[in-house]
Amino acid sequence: MSTDTPTIEPVIGIIGGSGLYEIDGLTDKEWRTVETPWGAPSDQLLFGRLAGVRCVFLPRHGRGHPIPPSRLNYRANIDALKRSGVTDILSLSAVGSLKEELPPGHFVIVDQFIDRSFAREKSFFDTGCVAHVSVADPVCPRIGDVAQTQGEALGLAIVRGGTYLVMEGPQFSTKAESALYRQWGCSVIGMTNMPEAKLAREAEICYATVAMVTDYDCWHPDHDSVTVDAVVKVMSANAANAKALVKAMIPELGKTRGLCPAGCDRALEYALITAPDA
Ligand code: ADE
Repeated sequence: MSTDTPTIEPVIGIIGGSGLYEIDGLTDKEWRTVETPWGAPSDQLLFGRLAGVRCVFLPRHGRGHPIPPSRLNYRANIDALKRSGVTDILSLSAVGSLKEELPPGHFVIVDQFIDRSFAREKSFFDTGCVAHVSVADPVCPRIGDVAQTQGEALGLAIVRGGTYLVMEGPQFSTKAESALYRQWGCSVIGMTNMPEAKLAREAEICYATVAMVTDYDCWHPDHDSVTVDAVVKVMSANAANAKALVKAMIPELGKTRGLCPAGCDRALEYALITAPDA
């Protein structure tokens, strides 16, 4: 019987940030080099299966964390995942908290970004063919639903919704900057999820961020200003929770489905502006 609705067997991409360098329970593991026209991704990609679901893991900063946020080849990372067949990306990253009620150890299912990064290539469409995709809603709500359901079932301190301020880094913020971002109503601050999310949209891959709070940045009168040492300590203490969440989410995300209800997988449909014969 023919049908107009495609059936998708999802392939789950996981981008692991500081402190998350592996996936618990992954079988049939193989690190593979994936080449792209944009250059090399941060590292080889780890292919495997979890509960039968095909997964591809990319350590965002490379194994051993040799690449700083401004030097990541975001285009190569997203394109390598696309070329590997990835349909859904779960992006994990350590962040600072800009709100009292989001203490270290909390997880935030981000739903908005303010992109203050400036030294990065942000589009696949920069010569010859121009496209303007919508990022009004920059994350896939379907992946967010799964994160929320599975996170709550695990008993994690997990919050749905919040704005992630993306700074260039690599230095942490000044107190004046941190205060400004709080006035803007931002929930968390980090250095990496843009242009990652924008590029995933251009690549028509469903994408969502689960941010792991490691510190109160530098605004909180009762807490020391953030240091790498503090970030690493909290990440290590919370790594088991992060891994449990990923492990619980993959079987749900991997279920056979139709097109994304939010349209992430069709983002280019009305986005191209260059004439076909230009
Ligand atoms: N990653 C973890 N904590 C951070 C902070 N306070 N600012 C920027 N990136 C971070």
